[in-house]
Amino acid sequence: RRPLRVALLGLGTVGRRVFAELSSAPHLFHVTAILVRRGSDIDRPRAARPLIVESFDDVLASGPELVVEATGGAEPAASWMAQLMERGLHVVTANKVAVARASTRLSGVARQHGVQFLASAAVGGSVPALETVARCAASSSPAERLVGITGVLNGTSNAILESLRLGCSWEAAIDEARAAGLAEADPTSDLDGSDVACKLELLARAAGWLDAPNAKLRWIRRDSLASGVPAGITCEEGRRLRLVGAVHLTEIGSIASIVLQSVAPGHPLFELSGAANAVVLEHAESPPTVLRGIGAGAWPTATSVMGDVFAVCRRLRLVEGAIPSTQQIEPEDAR
Ligand code: NDP
Ligand code: HSE
Repeated sequence: RRPLRVALLGLGTVGRRVFAELSSAPHLFHVTAILVRRGSDIDRPRAARPLIVESFDDVLASGPELVVEATGGAEPAASWMAQLMERGLHVVTANKVAVARASTRLSGVARQHGVQFLASAAVGGSVPALETVARCAASSSPAERLVGITGVLNGTSNAILESLRLGCSWEAAIDEARAAGLAEADPTSDLDGSDVACKLELLARAAGWLDAPNAKLRWIRRDSLASGVPAGITCEEGRRLRLVGAVHLTEIGSIASIVLQSVAPGHPLFELSGAANAVVLEHAESPPTVLRGIGAGAWPTATSVMGDVFAVCRRLRLVEGAIPSTQQIEPEDAR
């Protein structure tokens, strides 16, 4: 068996951990190049330094078969991914913004060029949210038919709400979430609902609810934590505040909302410490499925990215059989 040639775009929280995973299995993977921002003076892991390039053309020249995109933001990430797939390269990404904005275009390019385009890490970190929704959508079993998807989909805001509950100040809670590698480069999107909005869009797409031309989510409410917990929102003793994203399939299309709500013990979104995420899949004809796991941070995200990388290896017949999955493991120090 030959190792798969893999290049990385981005060497931040996610990229570093993915690089460590790839490097730990040299019989399976050969890292060809790692793209970082031009002129960046951030200290890089020693093993990564010889592979670092500052231009996208140098990534192409390194001859990868698969590229893991872990930079962030819509552009240039979406254009890079399109170019890679047009050249017949497989792409794995954790970038929900780029995928939500350019989903139709990117999936079209992947189909046209017969390559894999996988983005499991874009929603839920280690929670197999997109994979499970896509599987339900592909199933012909009425028991699996989905009518709604509800969940806590942003690890940063959940970690902040949990820190506040335990007596931390707002500023300290944000600093902690950033230091733990949970927050986006600009944490506003974690707090103002835009990160959750991207994830709801990806989930609705995976469910097949946005397949019609020009289909869009119809928003009925979007709460925000951008200026802190809004005055007037209270949480009775024993209940917990959650930023809950939901999308439902209705006769008039996909209706979405982001609501700051308090949940009681026993609710599926009650027991979520730190950066945990949970996704409740509501089926038309069977009880809900609840998926849980750590939703943000280096380890859970890299685990999900590596699941996609192994899916490409399987398709190229570089590995066989089931890959041991760590997706359900939630070690305390998993970040
Ligand atoms: P970081 O900000 O930690 O890292 C981003 C990396 O990409 C940095 O190395 C940065 O360079 C590099 N980069 C950014 N823009 C460019 C560019 N134009 N050219 C070259 N390099 C660039 O982000 P994360 O690792 O946290 O996140 C990466 C992606 O994964 C994002 O899309 C994020 O939404 C997604 N994600 C993150 C999760 C998390 O928990 N952190 C979870 C799930 C998804 P430099 O170091 O020089 O700034
Ligand atoms: N910033 C995101 C979060 C990362 O906190 O959920 C995972 O998508």
